[in-house]
Amino acid sequence: MASLRLRVRAAMEASLTENEGLLGEIGLYNFQGGGKLLRPLVFLLALKSLGHEITEERVKESVIFELVHVASLLHDDIVDLSDTRRGRKAAHLAFGVPETVLSGDFLAGTAGRLAVGSGSLAFVGCLQEALLELAQGELQELKARWETDLDEPGYFDIVRRKTASLFVAAALGAGILVKAPGSSLSSLEGLAVNYGLVFQIMDDILDYSADPDKLGKPVLQDITEGRVTLPYILARKNLSPKDAFNMDSLAIKEGKTQDDLDELLAYVAKGNGVALAREEVKRIQALAFLALKGLPNGEPLSILVKGALDRTS
Ligand code: FPP
Ligand code: MG
Repeated sequence: MASLRLRVRAAMEASLTENEGLLGEIGLYNFQGGGKLLRPLVFLLALKSLGHEITEERVKESVIFELVHVASLLHDDIVDLSDTRRGRKAAHLAFGVPETVLSGDFLAGTAGRLAVGSGSLAFVGCLQEALLELAQGELQELKARWETDLDEPGYFDIVRRKTASLFVAAALGAGILVKAPGSSLSSLEGLAVNYGLVFQIMDDILDYSADPDKLGKPVLQDITEGRVTLPYILARKNLSPKDAFNMDSLAIKEGKTQDDLDELLAYVAKGNGVALAREEVKRIQALAFLALKGLPNGEPLSILVKGALDRTS
């Protein structure tokens, strides 16, 4: 997988630098912060799982999904008012908000142009669906902010849209391009939606449990910014009404002190939030493995799915 990553990285850098100028440069800045290239890998390994070769043309196409991902992160850091990304200044602080918005637009447009190059209208449509879902999911998350009673269905709906949708586009897109049968497309969709959920829940768990140096951003950022995620939701369900009320009061408090955050973390621990969220991740990961069984060769993708649980950043 390492050599495949190198091939994708080179193609991504070529795509960002061939359009010289600030719009590509901002994308490159964000990308070089250390993207894991998971979406292109899902696309390429999905092709492999269907018995197809990973040609240079396919590697170039795989970049589509990373371009959209980087575009979404550029916009997301503005929406979230985040100062750091992968241990570095967020792009909007390094280059300015208007420039960063426009770079995100430009990268999404570049991805669209590459998709059109495939000649498949269904492939383009699949990508566009993801773009719509990303924006809808992000808005849904924005609306749910500071709502400490957000429940699991509400949370999963947001995550399916804001994170899983692009993984689904990558996996389904691969199937569509090689005209895979309907049963394989269903398997790919099942794999990708569950992998996307696992990936985002791990992200949300790390926000409560990681070492900030390894994570490249401060911990407890979600709850500081009013984002209620699975460890919080599951802990809250487990706490007494009084403890849940106290935890909510801390969560909605503006300008939280370190003591507030420590207390909040103690409530999440008391309600067993991180451990329960990890159990949930394992349950969903099993669904991803199950979906893989419907593919001619699920092994390459299964390595990726296994790796999702070992993340530290
Ligand atoms: C990161 O979530 C953000 C996303 C997964 C999606 C963001 C989508 C948009 C801004 C819609 C616009 C899309 C395009 C293509 C321009 P997070 O904030 O939970 O993760 P983080 O901790 O990495 O910031
Ligand atoms: Mg964010």
